[in-house]
Amino acid sequence: MKKNSAKAPGKLILMGEHSVVYGHPCIVTAVDRYIAAIISEDDKYIVDAPDVSNTDYVDKMTSFFCKKNNIEKKFKVTTKADFSDMNGLGSSSAVSVATCKALNDYFETGMSKREIFDMSYHVVKSVQGSGSGADVAAGTYGGTIYYEKLGKNIEPVDINGMSIVIGNTGVKAKTKEYVAKVAKAREENTEKIDDIFQRISALVLEAKRNIADLNYKSLGEKMTLNHKLLCELNICTPELDRLVEVALKAGAFGAKLSGAGGGDNMFALVSSENRSAVEDAITNAGGTVINAQINVS
Ligand code: MEV
Repeated sequence: MKKNSAKAPGKLILMGEHSVVYGHPCIVTAVDRYIAAIISEDDKYIVDAPDVSNTDYVDKMTSFFCKKNNIEKKFKVTTKADFSDMNGLGSSSAVSVATCKALNDYFETGMSKREIFDMSYHVVKSVQGSGSGADVAAGTYGGTIYYEKLGKNIEPVDINGMSIVIGNTGVKAKTKEYVAKVAKAREENTEKIDDIFQRISALVLEAKRNIADLNYKSLGEKMTLNHKLLCELNICTPELDRLVEVALKAGAFGAKLSGAGGGDNMFALVSSENRSAVEDAITNAGGTVINAQINVS
């Protein structure tokens, strides 16, 4: 029986969330939490995705792919996920990219990475209604990327030995709601919100330089400043703030929330010397350390 499988990693936004939705750059990295999609022969269309809470991504991807390639929608899609949407690591994009890659392999359509990115981004946007595509870029290309909306710029970033600790708040963030919240704030006070975005954008550019120079002290400061600017957008929570605060007190170079805000994850930039103190501080403050590798392919 013919069968093809492909996988895609989750993501963590290192700098520039929210402002990236408005055309500013962000830095996003792929994490070693994967979703695999397996396409196998069948005489009808079946989806077996017990660990994916919203199968719209798979359904829309298969429909779009089949229509574009004039293929009859008769096959089985099985997914296997080693993370869920509870982690806030971009499972929706990962499942879309994995399904696209697996379909491309199964039907030998010879899509380039760019085409896989474009199709996956189209699908994610059609389900979510908005989004920068940064998570789709991480899922498609892997590694760490300097990214601009619509894939206008997808530039690999060498993060060398950069080391972070990820802390999960245990509160599920509602990404769509928080993106809408920021959009509403911007509608009400465009000048103020655009000014915050400009300042975040400048930090992202400086952070990119700090990464290249291995200047972690300065990079950490930019991350913490980015967190403070995100709080000015009213997307921080006491849990996120607390984990950031204890990580900094434990000696992290910097710390910030990652993603839409309202919950999910924060991370701290650490050295090998202070890593375990930061991990302990996050755990003692009620967070859960996610032991994930970043910058994976
Ligand atoms: C969510 O992970 C990141 C946001 O910037 C939204 C997006 O980039 O689509 C808040």
